[in-house]
Amino acid sequence: MLDKAQGLASDQVFLDLEDAVAPLAKPEARKNIVAALTTGDWGGRVRAVRVNDLTTPWTYRDVIEVVEGAGGELDCIMLPKVQSAAHVQWLDLTLTQLERALGLPVGGIGIEAQIENAAGLVNVDAIAAASPRVETIIFGPADFMASLNMKSLVVGALHPDYPGDPFHYVLMRILMAARMYDKQAIDGPYLQIKDVDGFREVAKRSAALGFDGKWVLHPGQIDAANEVYSPSQSDYDHAELILDAYEYYTSEAGGKLGAVMLGDEMIDEASRKMALVVSAKGRAAGMARTSAFTPPSA
Ligand code: GLV
Ligand code: MG
Repeated sequence: MLDKAQGLASDQVFLDLEDAVAPLAKPEARKNIVAALTTGDWGGRVRAVRVNDLTTPWTYRDVIEVVEGAGGELDCIMLPKVQSAAHVQWLDLTLTQLERALGLPVGGIGIEAQIENAAGLVNVDAIAAASPRVETIIFGPADFMASLNMKSLVVGALHPDYPGDPFHYVLMRILMAARMYDKQAIDGPYLQIKDVDGFREVAKRSAALGFDGKWVLHPGQIDAANEVYSPSQSDYDHAELILDAYEYYTSEAGGKLGAVMLGDEMIDEASRKMALVVSAKGRAAGMARTSAFTPPSA
């Protein structure tokens, strides 16, 4: 898996020391991860390692071994089951010590915080603000469902007994903290790895709210994730059209207008801001325009 992950079309890869590794296998897993980071070719992808959470006996050794062994080949440490700003501050200080001791740039290693229980969600604002190293807030739906006593075993899915999306509040709450502090908001795993349509349905809900991406557990989920978190071709084209049209109409040549009609739609400065979001997502995904703006002839 550590070899195969290097050639996949994901934006990021995280190597796990937490729940995918049995307690007796953790010492060996640390060594495998250091070897994979130092000898592998990760092709410019963001490289993260998920350590164990701070209620276990393993976290400090995870961080020390991985950073001492591969700190220069590591972009982020993912901290699961974060419950308070203190958890993030512990990791921040530990990383600072390690970076100083190893001659690495201080602050170079980022933190991804997983929100997986009530304490984490209640404290998510303070967690997001706890260190400039925090780059990403991640929803951990499986642990979250367990910690809340949710009556379901299908991670992230709608529930037949509940007339709404049981995860709406959680996703929105995380998104608010992420946007307030300018962090990425990432949705968690979908465990039925053969059910790509199920993955797509769950992913679409967080993508619609504004989440930046979602975990994939299997190569078969990657295409669906890339598709769902990118704009559709028509939305991308429309966004680029709005940007060009608005630039033209606000200019001298276009009449210095602040609100204009583009087809049947009124566009103004807020339209430009919405279009910037969609266009940035499309450009990041490498999309190409299929239409162009033509100024009206005088
Ligand atoms: C991920 O770690 C989850 O618990 O969903
Ligand atoms: Mg978890």
